[in-house]
Amino acid sequence: MWPTAELHVHIEGTLEADLIEELAARNGLPVPEGAALMARTEPYRDLQDFLDLYYANLAVLRTRADFHDLGARYLARAAAAGVRHAEIFVDPQSHTERGVPVEDVLLGLSSALADARAEHGMSGGLIVCFLRHLGPDAAMAALEEVLPHRELLLGVGLDSSEVGYPPALFRDVYERAAAEGLRRVAHAGEEGGPDYVWEALDILGAERIDHGNRALEDVELVAHLRETRTPLTVCPLSNVALRTSGPDLADHPLAVMLDEGLVASVHSDDPAYFGGYVDDAVTALVAAGTVTPDQLGVLAANSIVSSFLPDGAKAALL
Ligand code: ADE
Ligand code: ZN
Repeated sequence: MWPTAELHVHIEGTLEADLIEELAARNGLPVPEGAALMARTEPYRDLQDFLDLYYANLAVLRTRADFHDLGARYLARAAAAGVRHAEIFVDPQSHTERGVPVEDVLLGLSSALADARAEHGMSGGLIVCFLRHLGPDAAMAALEEVLPHRELLLGVGLDSSEVGYPPALFRDVYERAAAEGLRRVAHAGEEGGPDYVWEALDILGAERIDHGNRALEDVELVAHLRETRTPLTVCPLSNVALRTSGPDLADHPLAVMLDEGLVASVHSDDPAYFGGYVDDAVTALVAAGTVTPDQLGVLAANSIVSSFLPDGAKAALL
């Protein structure tokens, strides 16, 4: 197993059905109906169809201990998948809007990261994502709310419903985040077109593009991504499950990305919903013939190079 950096995983998307049941019991809450729908094998209608289920299931997460346990479960599973470094997305707005204090979210997850360093020798950090469907004012308020905990944060990202919420809307928020020294990434080109990817790069200063599949529709953009060595964090199992690629993993655009010389790496997005963690994704890609076994070293190296680790730490993992 190649040492890997997981750069595109939503911690909320690692909330497995058994943990939903456990947390519901712990907090005296009903088990959300959606928990039973997670075992499906047929694709979702689209990104929104999935997001509706994903947000509803979060109702069981209430306390700092809940967030610790969510993080700890994920990190133990990731360690078993060969992940040596994890830059984890968290959606604070999806919790604060339910009345959970933001410090419980961030401190609970951070304590899980500290434990994982001790127990599994893993490094990692948190990337707070803004929910694009709530708009730029809410994103700015969310940024202000997390900044008192600046030392717990690696960077900012942008996620949730893409089409209709172009990156340019979030210019001021990203400027403010950059002024605080936060690293910048953004989901773009998942359902949105290449123009969303250009905006994420040119207007938000995104250092990595999460997904980026639709960048392949624009030759100039492909050349730009290649020349600037801008990483794409690609999530093949997610793309099949959300119909943002074809139904057959064998036709996944990752093969084209690698042929085009792009710095693409494989990630899991929301593993509790899409049929597996990063090791499962890699195994499925090889089984489908999308990538050859000798490309696995390149994919793993790309993940490490694309991380926000200092150069010395990258070299130690390569
Ligand atoms: N939030 C969780 N998973 C997501 C995805 N695949 N795209 C956008 N936002 C998300
Ligand atoms: Zn994602």
